[in-house]
Amino acid sequence: MSLEPSDRLIVALDVPSPEDAFELIAEIGNSVGVYKIGLELLFAGGDEMAREMAAQGNQIFIDAKLLDTPNTVSRATANISEMGAEFLTVHGVDAKTMKAAVAGRGSSNLKLLAVTVLTSLEESDLAEQGIGEDPASLVLRRAELARSCGFDGVIASGHEAAAIRTACGPDFLIVTPGIRMGGSAADDQVRIMTPSHAISAGADYLVVGRPITRADDPESAARDFVDEIEQALV
Ligand code: C5P
Repeated sequence: MSLEPSDRLIVALDVPSPEDAFELIAEIGNSVGVYKIGLELLFAGGDEMAREMAAQGNQIFIDAKLLDTPNTVSRATANISEMGAEFLTVHGVDAKTMKAAVAGRGSSNLKLLAVTVLTSLEESDLAEQGIGEDPASLVLRRAELARSCGFDGVIASGHEAAAIRTACGPDFLIVTPGIRMGGSAADDQVRIMTPSHAISAGADYLVVGRPITRADDPESAARDFVDEIEQALV
């Protein structure tokens, strides 16, 4: 895949309103390939913003993390593909949900990404759900399921990227959140990794939120991430 280092940086627009998001985008400038609109912004006018940005040629990632009955997932996916989005997340816990999303996108270019195990969860959180498997093997199992359902890739932490790459092949997209520069705050993330380690482990795209959106200078913070991606690719 011939992506420029900046194409591989996905910035999570986790801000309260489209006004805040547009302000942030103006501050960040051209150093970012994809903007991710998640649940916070989606419920505050983010859907309209996504349509507008996609119509202007921007790559938009709708982080809706769908999980519902097949009919609902399929119809929601169809609506999201009509927004002009490039990426959509769906929880990758079962084949019925993922096959419904594949049916819903039809012949559109929407890329479907399965959320394997949230990077904010660890083994004890899985145990709470009655899951005895450790995060790494559960992520791998769900990635293989997503691939068999026709998904384009997964969201997974850098810790699992190498095993997914080996199991799912070179074309399966690995999108990695929980990215932090060495020595910086983890916030609510647990399975974190630096940009260079995640890229070296096989991640295609990195999702970065607070380290850029809450930086004093978001443009320079974004550039630091792109620089580290570039160095890791060399
Ligand atoms: O601020 P931070 O860099 O932690 O933001 C990470 C982003 O990635 C958030 O928007 C979060 O919703 C998203 N995400 C995640 N873990 C996943 C899937 C998505 O952190 N497994």
